Amino acid sequence: MNQMTNVKLEQFPYSDAAKKALARKPALFIDGEWVESTGGATLGVVDPSSGKEISRFVDATDADVDKAVAAARRAFDDGRWSDLPPIVREQIMHKLADILEAHADELAELEAIDNGKPKGMAGAIDVPGAISMIHYMAGWATKLGGEMIEPSATPRGLFHSYVRREPIGVAAQIVPWNFPLLMAVLKISPALAAGCTVILKPAEQTSLTALRLADFIQMAGIPAGVVNIITGNGHTAGDRLVRHPDVDKVAFTGSTEIGKVINRTATDSLKRVTLELGGKSPVIVLPDVDPKVAGPGTAQAIFFNSGQVCVAGSRLYAHKSVFDSVLENFVEASSFWQPRASLDPAGHMGPLVSDEQLARVMGYIEDGKKAGASVAIGGDTPESEGGYYVNPTVLVDVKPDMRVVREEIFGPVVVAQRFDDLDEVARQANDTSFGLAAGIWTKDLSAMHKLAAKLKAGTIWGNCHAMIDPALPFGGFKESGLGREQGRQGVEAYTELKSVIIQL
Ligand code: NAI
Ligand code: MG
Repeated sequence: MNQMTNVKLEQFPYSDAAKKALARKPALFIDGEWVESTGGATLGVVDPSSGKEISRFVDATDADVDKAVAAARRAFDDGRWSDLPPIVREQIMHKLADILEAHADELAELEAIDNGKPKGMAGAIDVPGAISMIHYMAGWATKLGGEMIEPSATPRGLFHSYVRREPIGVAAQIVPWNFPLLMAVLKISPALAAGCTVILKPAEQTSLTALRLADFIQMAGIPAGVVNIITGNGHTAGDRLVRHPDVDKVAFTGSTEIGKVINRTATDSLKRVTLELGGKSPVIVLPDVDPKVAGPGTAQAIFFNSGQVCVAGSRLYAHKSVFDSVLENFVEASSFWQPRASLDPAGHMGPLVSDEQLARVMGYIEDGKKAGASVAIGGDTPESEGGYYVNPTVLVDVKPDMRVVREEIFGPVVVAQRFDDLDEVARQANDTSFGLAAGIWTKDLSAMHKLAAKLKAGTIWGNCHAMIDPALPFGGFKESGLGREQGRQGVEAYTELKSVIIQL
């Protein structure tokens, strides 16, 4: 059943621009300058397409973190950013977006080299997504406002009262490795629009584009100290940020496990917290859909970005009358997702991000097989010289209590199941501790809306998947997160409300 052909899994040569970025001296971006770490520790940049180390970057010390927080604190407290005319903040943000656009090709290549995703995908999705996020959020700088509300329990005219909306202050932002640039930009944009200052920490697997972003922040004229970018390990530098008394808000995207740790730690000082965490998102195919549409659509829902997507459609539920034909078309579509090196122009799916992630995903596949699941396609790794490749994998004959059905795998692995009627599939789809997203494939409008109301998830897609737009609030029910990013709610999450009541 496996449609894969023999492809040589060898990385392609890097461009001169990429080589230059890789040759940088390890440094941190603090208070508008590139500074050396107070310690000597560095971490390696590994190209997941080859498994080779290609550069080093700083593993920030506690003293480095404290320095970055102090810079962000000063920059917030003296109003160098929040007191600017909002339209000037908006203009500077648009300028940052334009600089990203001018370097789009370089950014797409760096993302491909660092994360393993195909350069074509990074250039079509990650980089343009980051640019539109900045433009969209820039507009909020001039549109965030308070409200005039009359007191309710006093005679009219005795008091004047209103509600101000103010920036929260210093935000610590910790992002993962699956969409490094996009996540970094998604975090800093609403904070900047609201007037906050930031310390951003990229994931230790993928720091290249965040460091390049620091250059662009400098070029755009964002004042020193407003955005500080520090690299390093999560359990040290990340944890120090979350505990720091001068940090007012923590925004995190990553695993549910660490999200819970961060929420607990931040509680000690009652920091504001937003969390975007894991998922096990169901994709439901109703019997009216052409399997020639549903097959490739649901394959894309799981195999895009090698399945390393918080909203990956990792549980496929097809109506029993179409299950076999949907699966047949899904399998046929899987050859499109055959793994290739990230700079191979023919590639649509790259390797996984790290050897750790490879071991994790293969561990889940083995666990599923031991528990009685059958492998319809994939389940193995292609032959390669280094590199963390996994073939697109479909597991069938699964049971609801298996770990492969319940836990986030974060790889190109889908579990496929049958269902009988809408109530049954809604129950199955909701039988999870997660609640990030869900997909419904049908042209039956009534069934679509009924299911959309029943599914417990922050985003529902109809006849598409992973359609994410800066204007729409994004976040999770249940253990998939806390709060919302993007849209009005996303920028308001960087503000505090203040009621002012004056006796006249
Ligand atoms: P992780 O949650 O440990 O790492 C994400 C970010 O958090 C990184 O920047 C890391 O440095 C930081 N971090 C880690 N421990 C921290 C701590 N104690 N305090 C503060 N910051 C900390 O995720 P990891 O280990 O890279 O991946 C493990 C699994 O997590 C994946 O297999 C996947 O299932 C899930 N994951 C989900 C993501 C999502 O978008 N929902 C993104 C990345 C991973
Ligand atoms: Mg971790």
